[in-house]
Amino acid sequence: TRSLPVYEAEALVIGSGVAGLTTAWHLARAGKSVLLAVRDTLFDSNTNKAQGGIAASFGSDDNPALHLEDTLVAGAGLTDRDIAKLVVTEGPEDIRLLAAHGAEFDRTADGRLALGREGCHCRHRIVHAHGDATGAEVARALNAMVAQEARVRPLEHCYVVDLLVHEGRVYGATALLDGKKVVLRARATVLATGGTGRLFSKTTNPEGATGSGLAMAWRAGAEVMDMEFVQFHPTALALEGCPNFLISEAVRGAGAVLRNGKGERFMPKYHPMAELAPRDVVARCIFKEMQESGMDHAFLDATGIGDAAQKFPMIAETCRQYGVDIERDFIPIAPAAHYMMGGVHTDAHGRTNLAGLYACGEAACTGLQGANRLASNSLLEGLVFGRRAAEDIVAAATCAETQAAPRAAFCAELFFEEHGLREAAFSDTARLNRETQVLMTQYLGIRRYAPGILKAIQELSRLSSLREGYAAESAEELDLRGRLAADLLIARAALRRRESRGAHYRMDYPEKSEKWRHHVLDVKDEQVAL
Ligand code: SIN
Repeated sequence: TRSLPVYEAEALVIGSGVAGLTTAWHLARAGKSVLLAVRDTLFDSNTNKAQGGIAASFGSDDNPALHLEDTLVAGAGLTDRDIAKLVVTEGPEDIRLLAAHGAEFDRTADGRLALGREGCHCRHRIVHAHGDATGAEVARALNAMVAQEARVRPLEHCYVVDLLVHEGRVYGATALLDGKKVVLRARATVLATGGTGRLFSKTTNPEGATGSGLAMAWRAGAEVMDMEFVQFHPTALALEGCPNFLISEAVRGAGAVLRNGKGERFMPKYHPMAELAPRDVVARCIFKEMQESGMDHAFLDATGIGDAAQKFPMIAETCRQYGVDIERDFIPIAPAAHYMMGGVHTDAHGRTNLAGLYACGEAACTGLQGANRLASNSLLEGLVFGRRAAEDIVAAATCAETQAAPRAAFCAELFFEEHGLREAAFSDTARLNRETQVLMTQYLGIRRYAPGILKAIQELSRLSSLREGYAAESAEELDLRGRLAADLLIARAALRRRESRGAHYRMDYPEKSEKWRHHVLDVKDEQVAL
């Protein structure tokens, strides 16, 4: 009666964005068997939706040192220089590898990679595909690569519930596969579950970006870092009834300007880089202009580009469906939650503080993104750290004795019972999800202040404790537990940091403070200053 279906492989990779697929592919190429668990389908990822591209210093006027400098400027004093150096130096080779395996990036007439420009970059260095559909091409190419590897076993519609931990070591996870409880057993587990955009009412992220992966790691004892740093993308399409849709920063890179409700251009009065200032600066300026005009949006004016529809076909087509001609009309835009700089703390090999657990991509916090990620550094980080995590797993496997996992770790039925997952009783998840999104948007959005954050913490804690009395069966119900934990991680970190830095803006502490030039780790209820 205690035996649940067990799926076993040398590695379990959770998530199919750029980081997860890259890890799975490299592991398979090195001869390792991989379970690739994804909550929806292999194509449901932030990667698939990414527009702008992948930053790398391929230009003849560029080099990794310049890319590093821009990364450090955007990161507002919290970027780990060594990690950033490693990423900007190794990244170009990872992009070449992807191109060699079929990713079709846009090229110039003489066959070199065509390079776009985005905010806070001093050079043209954004590698892109089909103009503004870079992520879809990266996801297509990586999925095709992985599909050729027989050692990778994809498990779609597999909602990972909890990590299996025994004496500080992770041996896989419990999951609901097509709604049925299963055990996913592996010597190495890689968390590549993406970000937290869906914790907010307005986001550019897909459904699955609820932070439940990193909440799961935190529950298991993993160190979580920098959760106060939530990046709001300045320009998401803001039209009544239209789904949240990103208008790439590359459009500003090509010359589009921002205008307020009166049609006035405003960025030059706030920052010398105007529309190409760091993303957090642009998002806050738009927010201020929106408040001053009493409107729920501002405008992006791409009419001066000339061939905007040709350069950005997907954006042009989506806007057209909603009656906006990007070559003639101003595009209504507003900031939306886009990227989580924080996540599960890792070293330069994607290792976490828990043996056997790795993290990479948006779910991880390597220190690359600092207090504010530089545009198009995220797909890059996923490529570099996906590979590095795989390399480390392979190296660890050859030197460590393959110790059999203790039986206790795999009494999974017992595990489900202990975690109160037997009976469904908590059905109003959709309403609660919306309520928490409103709280997060109001109090943990672009501008924050102590009384608001405290109010959010109080309410989120109340919902969490209500939630404790219930058992959950479905992925939706379990996800609510993860959401609430991720919400609270963000809120607590935001309350703690009494300064404004990068994407974290406190109205009650509007200045950056040297005293706060450090990270804070959250390990269960303990908080450790680094
Ligand atoms: C964009 O295309 O503006 C998004 C790029 C990014 O988030 O790095």
